[in-house]
Amino acid sequence: MRKPFVAGNWKMNGSRDSVRTLLDGIKAGMADVSVAEVAVCPPAIYIADVQQQLEGSAIGCGGQDVSTQASGAFTGEISTAMLQDFACRYTLVGHSERRTLHGEDDALVARKFSVASAAGLIPILCIGETLQEREANETESVVSRQLDAVIELDGIEALADCIIAYEPVWAIGTGKTASSAQAQEVHAFIRQKLAELNADVAEGVRILYGGSVKGSNAEELFGQTDIDGGLIGGASLMADDFLAICRAAR
Ligand code: 13P
Repeated sequence: MRKPFVAGNWKMNGSRDSVRTLLDGIKAGMADVSVAEVAVCPPAIYIADVQQQLEGSAIGCGGQDVSTQASGAFTGEISTAMLQDFACRYTLVGHSERRTLHGEDDALVARKFSVASAAGLIPILCIGETLQEREANETESVVSRQLDAVIELDGIEALADCIIAYEPVWAIGTGKTASSAQAQEVHAFIRQKLAELNADVAEGVRILYGGSVKGSNAEELFGQTDIDGGLIGGASLMADDFLAICRAAR
């Protein structure tokens, strides 16, 4: 059985005050979220505050990105060891906003994945096609290419200890969610692709859906066979909305 997982990607939102209020709200409502594993990925500058506030709670913390380098002259970057210094268990890699706005290509994302898992962080590998790619019928080839970059560098076994997030770019922050059938189709394709290389890895790996998930559509999405939870953007910034999504993951 794959344990459902819900992570909030706060992106570049919030303030010290709003982070405190948001986490207080999430912690207060966690009592009835018994099934899902839950994590938040705050802007790096708030991770120390979040770590303090999450002490003793089951909610995990993750980075939104990580450097391929261990230390040194890499202005603006954050290393795996720094994330771990503040008790992060996870890090996103290859979010579409990193790929598009920061020019991260498949090879760089694969290296980030590799250093994160070598350090013992759980990478949350984000993959997904743009609207143009979907309309050109390229969804499967795009997610295949994105997965292959990681598999070629680290082998299929490396995916055993990671989380995959399928986030169709056209559904991110647009209010346009993939239908549960559309999402399930791609999730099933991903799992099948992995099964051709290693059945156990395919069966065990959690594949999250991300892209305009809300309290109102989460249950239907998470009810699909190959959808094991969600990576939540906008709706993770309000405690009640996020909790409703966490409750839908069972
Ligand atoms: P939204 O939930 O705001 O569409 O964002 C999804 C996302 O990018 C999570 O990483």
